[in-house]
Amino acid sequence: MRQDIRTLVRAAFATVLGVLSVPLAGSTEARAQPVDLPANVPAYNPYPSGILPANLQSELNRVKNEVETIFGRYFAEYQALITAGLPTLTGQPPTLFPSGYEATRILGGLLNFDLNMSPFRNVACSSCHMPYAGFSGPIPSVNLTMIAYPGSYRYRAGKRVAQRYTYSPRFPVLHLNGQKNPQRGGTFTGGNFWDGRSTGYLLQSPDAEQAQHPPVDTQEHGLSDTACIALRISQAAYRPLFELVWGVDFDINWPSNVEQTCATPGGAFGNNATPVALSAVDRTKANNIYDHWGQTISFLESSNDVSPFTSKVDAAARGAYTPTANEAAGRTLFQGKGNCNSCHLDGFPTLNPGPNPGVQADTEPLFTCFGYANLGLPEQGGFLRV
Ligand code: HEC
Ligand code: HEC
Repeated sequence: MRQDIRTLVRAAFATVLGVLSVPLAGSTEARAQPVDLPANVPAYNPYPSGILPANLQSELNRVKNEVETIFGRYFAEYQALITAGLPTLTGQPPTLFPSGYEATRILGGLLNFDLNMSPFRNVACSSCHMPYAGFSGPIPSVNLTMIAYPGSYRYRAGKRVAQRYTYSPRFPVLHLNGQKNPQRGGTFTGGNFWDGRSTGYLLQSPDAEQAQHPPVDTQEHGLSDTACIALRISQAAYRPLFELVWGVDFDINWPSNVEQTCATPGGAFGNNATPVALSAVDRTKANNIYDHWGQTISFLESSNDVSPFTSKVDAAARGAYTPTANEAAGRTLFQGKGNCNSCHLDGFPTLNPGPNPGVQADTEPLFTCFGYANLGLPEQGGFLRV
């Protein structure tokens, strides 16, 4: 095993130097192809053979191209908005009229699909959350092997699968709900992430706050300082749209080494959480921009681009679709003997054992109770959010 790891580490260095012409025993395509890191940065690859899928690098390249394509579509929408006339501040208190929603949604798309929001400009939020994979991970071989997706510093990776995030902006701030299970003092409800660690205490929206975690997670985007997001947005072609929507001040006195600091993955600065040295005033500006980064992405996730109510279930609820006999039987099972909708609330009462004659409640079918359950899976190791 030891020997194996040393061989792999050597292979990784050789790849970076571009001299890997002799195929090594047990080498995979992930190592044989140039990684998307600068030439002087060795890939992080301590894994035993067989962990990284053979087509990892080519798949990461494919996804990067797709992310760029979708970014381009949002950019075209931005251009169209300019042509049609940008919204202006209207009324008291002033709001952007008549297309403030559109402007914010488009800005959210630009931020979510911008590969520049990582030290090596190779990872965007959407790299792990692609629309065609239900906003989860888009690489079949990764889903079948390592589960977690490599971050900007190839091939550092976390431990969990990318969570699907439709309806995630509708989760309340994490709180102890005393009405549920009062005999046990209540049930923790709300929050984002599998374990609810994005509580929402800061921005009073767990989902907006969630978007503040990945940029500085060393295994995801991997930036060393939250201020790097403000820096990269200030350099983006769509910066005027961010200024229009939020009225923020990008006039920040950046230290001379800021480019280098933001191109260095997190973890390189020990316990220093703010290696970009800023005055108190400039830090406040950068923090303000970072808060609005989170709010904008959350707005995108709440929009029809991510969380539409257009499924067959929604159409049936509106009376616009009649389920087939099989679909209706499935629904009966879901609400009845299956007892699924005791956790995945669908707007109907649960009757276990079924069938459920219940009347639809006046609520959006989000298929969650905002709570946590221990499903007893060995890998799970505790409670996960429904
Ligand atoms: C390297 C892959 C990766 C990247 C990049 C990434 N995510 Fe995730 N995302 C994950 C994983 C894994 C989880 C679950 C993590 C956990 O619970 O510990 C997750 C969870 C989430 C959730 C929680 C959904 C819920 O219902 O609670 C949201 C929302 C989300 N991501 C949005 C984003 C946004 C916005 C960005 C960019 C700022 C982003 N992700 C970048 C992998 C990624
Ligand atoms: C005790 C509560 C509970 C019950 C009952 C329950 N689930 Fe779940 N379900 C969960 C939790 C928690 C998760 C998320 C954790 C996970 O995926 O391991 C989940 C995840 C899921 C997912 C994956 C969702 C995603 O976005 O990845 C599906 C699909 C699902 N459940 C369907 C069902 C069906 C069908 C039933 C009935 C047969 C059911 N569940 C019953 C708690 C429950």
